[in-house]
Amino acid sequence: MRKDGTPAAVSGSPVGKMFLCFETKPVVATLLALTLVMVIWNLQPYYENLISTTNRCSVTTSGASESLPIRPGSVGFGGSVKALAEKKVKPSPPADPNKRTFHAYGIAAALFVQMSAYRGGPRTFAVMGLASKPIHVFGKPWYKCEWIPNNGNSSIMAESYKMLPDWGYGRVYTVVVVNCTFTSNPNADNSGGKLVLYAYYGESPLKYEKFIAMEEAPGSYNESQYSPPYKYEYLYCGSSLYGNLNAARMREWMAYHAWFFGPSSHFVFHDAGGVSAEVRSVLEPWIRAGRVTLQDIRAQAEYDGYYYNQFLVVNDCLHRHRFAANWTFFFDVDEYIYLPNGNTLQSVLQEFSNVTQFTIEQNAMSSNMCLNDSTQDYSRQWGFEKLLFRDSRTRIRRDRKYAIQARNAYSTGVHMSENVTGDTLHKTETKIRYYHYHDTITVHEEICRKLLPMFTKKTSTWLDKIPYVYDDNMKKLAPTIKEFEQNTIGSQNYLHS
Ligand SMILES: *[C@@H]1O[C@H](CO)[C@@H](O)[C@H](O)[C@H]1NC(C)=O
Ligand SMILES: *[C@@H]1O[C@H](CO)[C@@H](O)[C@H](O)[C@H]1NC(C)=O
Ligand SMILES: *[C@@H]1O[C@H](CO)[C@@H](O)[C@H](O)[C@H]1NC(C)=O
Ligand SMILES: *[C@@H]1O[C@H](CO)[C@@H](O)[C@H](O)[C@H]1NC(C)=O
Ligand SMILES: *[C@@H]1O[C@H](CO)[C@@H](O)[C@H](O)[C@H]1NC(C)=O
Ligand SMILES: *[C@@H]1O[C@H](CO)[C@@H](O)[C@H](O)[C@H]1NC(C)=O
Ligand SMILES: *[C@@H]1O[C@H](CO)[C@@H](O)[C@H](O)[C@H]1NC(C)=O
Repeated sequence: MRKDGTPAAVSGSPVGKMFLCFETKPVVATLLALTLVMVIWNLQPYYENLISTTNRCSVTTSGASESLPIRPGSVGFGGSVKALAEKKVKPSPPADPNKRTFHAYGIAAALFVQMSAYRGGPRTFAVMGLASKPIHVFGKPWYKCEWIPNNGNSSIMAESYKMLPDWGYGRVYTVVVVNCTFTSNPNADNSGGKLVLYAYYGESPLKYEKFIAMEEAPGSYNESQYSPPYKYEYLYCGSSLYGNLNAARMREWMAYHAWFFGPSSHFVFHDAGGVSAEVRSVLEPWIRAGRVTLQDIRAQAEYDGYYYNQFLVVNDCLHRHRFAANWTFFFDVDEYIYLPNGNTLQSVLQEFSNVTQFTIEQNAMSSNMCLNDSTQDYSRQWGFEKLLFRDSRTRIRRDRKYAIQARNAYSTGVHMSENVTGDTLHKTETKIRYYHYHDTITVHEEICRKLLPMFTKKTSTWLDKIPYVYDDNMKKLAPTIKEFEQNTIGSQNYLHS
């Protein structure tokens, strides 16, 4: 894991010294011991003197070369069978029986696991990765960035800072976003170069790892990519997809949002094991139509972070596509953005254009209650077409989702970003909301599992002490969405459930 030429070593120095004291080739030791016994035999008067001079442990190689290596029987070093080439070592004192030693084996969590690094403007970069969480909780590791130009000029250091955007939710690993900002464009002549990250183990500037975080090829820097107009109006950054996802639900979500956001939008999904062959086949037509990018992030499973490393994934998406769209949306595949009161997306976002981000309130929907209506064939309906009972409690705290003008964000989270420049707007519930069909996305049997009598359409219904009201706003859109899907990607043959 460590690279050559770095002075850092987690356990290097103390263990190295110990080896110098006690390790040597057993054959050499035996020969030396035999020689010494004979010397002592012949030179009795010098016996005491000799022992005292050899009773020091030293790493210096100057001085007597005939010293006797003593291998204290009570000390067993990890891998002590390894021979050491060092010949000129002095023996150690007899082991202090009360002095305890500690032996480390293996490395449980990496200092830094890099996922990505992107340029974020003419003079700024972001590096995304995971780091051992306890060293950030209990220690003070830090980062430094350097640019090594291809043109032979000397390297340039950047002002660097770290953000831990996962709100303390990490597990073995926590998410780290390192911001590297230079005083001017380090690749102004477009000859290319390398961004090098120094990751420190703690406060000490002596122990670190250093690696190339990204390379900019000669001629590849293009300043106009960092200012409007952007390629899309809207970008969707999905978090990690995992579990046994129902492909029918994914198909419905995709058709709805491709319609909702319109042609100037793009969707980025992250497959952490949730994209089965069926799910892939519903996404495939949208991928072919250029509307969807599917990223395979299954390799994240190696690193134990919060829920399939979703905080890492959203930060990667934020910075990877920081200048791809006016607005970047973060929400899940069981959530449907909705505009109440006849608002249009264009007009709402125009109104919000002076804030960096806004959060979105949810309409929490029942995951299993449907109307006992004999005129409906639920087996042929879409999820949002039949789950029409909304939890009507107000004044309870519910998770929110959000959208952001990504160029003003430095790192982000799952429910909002706390590291932005500019304002955050929360009072948005009359302009934009989302329908949340929690606990439906991995259900494969019929989701209408509780049938409510027809009169519940008109009154509030209490179930498990929760009041529900009938809400068919989404159902009303279903014919439009189905027609849109048919017109955009052609007819799809899926089982409905
Ligand atoms: C490289 O260094 C030379 C002088 O040492 C300077 O004139 C030139 O502007 C530098 N190039 C860049 C791209 O910084
Ligand atoms: C730079 O980027 C802009 C916008 O993305 C593009 O139109 C232009 O062709 C690019 N220029 C070069 C030299 O690649
Ligand atoms: C996106 O940004 C461009 C350029 O700033 C602007 O003209 C356009 O109206 C914006 N679109 C939306 C939907 O905000
Ligand atoms: C944004 O503009 C609205 C009016 O459209 C105004 O009420 C609000 O105070 C502005 N917010 C900021 C942060 O400038
Ligand atoms: C890094 O932080 C600075 C503000 O300190 C900001 O201007 C810049 O956009 C950030 N860069 C990235 C890539 O997020
Ligand atoms: C990022 O946001 C967190 C949470 O608000 C804050 O504690 C931290 O100081 C911020 N870091 C930077 C570099 O802005
Ligand atoms: C649904 O309604 C029918 C009559 O329309 C009734 O026979 C049936 O028992 C009801 N089912 C449930 C689960 O209430």
